Amino acid sequence: MLHLRNLWDVDDTTIRRIVDRGLTIKAGILSGNPPPLLAGKVLGLLFEKPSLRTRTSFEVGMFRLGGQAIALKHYEVGLGKREPVADVARVFSSYVDAIVVRTFDHINVQQLAEHSSVPVINGLCDTYHPCQILADLLTLKEQWGDWRGRRLAWVGDGNNVCHSWMIAAAITGFQLRIATPESFQPDAAVFARCNELSPGSVVWSTQCDEIVTGTDAIITDVWVSMGQEKDAEEKRRLFMPYQVNQKLMEKAADHALLLHCLPAHRGDEVTAALIDGPRSVAWQEAENRLHAQSGLLVEQLSTV
Ligand code: CP
Ligand code: NVA
Repeated sequence: MLHLRNLWDVDDTTIRRIVDRGLTIKAGILSGNPPPLLAGKVLGLLFEKPSLRTRTSFEVGMFRLGGQAIALKHYEVGLGKREPVADVARVFSSYVDAIVVRTFDHINVQQLAEHSSVPVINGLCDTYHPCQILADLLTLKEQWGDWRGRRLAWVGDGNNVCHSWMIAAAITGFQLRIATPESFQPDAAVFARCNELSPGSVVWSTQCDEIVTGTDAIITDVWVSMGQEKDAEEKRRLFMPYQVNQKLMEKAADHALLLHCLPAHRGDEVTAALIDGPRSVAWQEAENRLHAQSGLLVEQLSTV
């Protein structure tokens, strides 16, 4: 049984197979013939935080491939409050064929997986966001043919999305160059594990100019992640030098792309001119959530 608690659960071959499955499904959907690969399957989703892309893309993906989805909100379930996480896992997994969970503490994802009889997918927690990176790799494959050997820059907060990019770099063979303020650098254990698996796959500095120079893409994300709103004012001041704007973009390669998982805060982490401009692939990334996750579900649930 393949869980996706974070990207450490998959290897290079599996990530590439998921991306390729997603591209095949995308071609089927675009030609009006999505294959009914998940007929009779039901996906259960559980959300403790808001979502547009994750919820819709998983639900639509199931529907398009012949299955169904049921999404529950935190106040309906009370994960770990109304009943223990392990009991939720046992019961929910007796009804559905796979579970997506968006939660705060990664331990909830781990406990769900431990006690679930079906695959558990992390739909974002405070520490990881693996589904986003599957969609982004699919997007890079469309743009570049492959992402191996490329140099990508992460600018902003050393957060959940950053951690998942780091793991992808170490596993699939590219370099992630990270620029964050000193006090918001990525998790030291994730950093160490990445460089242990693939020395030099992740590098970190406070100097964003130096980090982005010559890179093939700049990636950014909100400065204030869901659940961290109390830090908003302090972070806004501290992060302003890390805004991705035209001046910073010019330091990257001429062909460099801009990636953003969305939602975007124009004027904070990225300027409107860039996110709405020709270098931005943010809308392709958002659309590709649907296809990459369909590839993931087929990898987990289909016998084909
Ligand atoms: N990028 C992303 O996960 O979007 P949502 O929060 O809308 O699901
Ligand atoms: N880092 C952001 C990602 C949103 C998709 C958050 O956790 O809110």
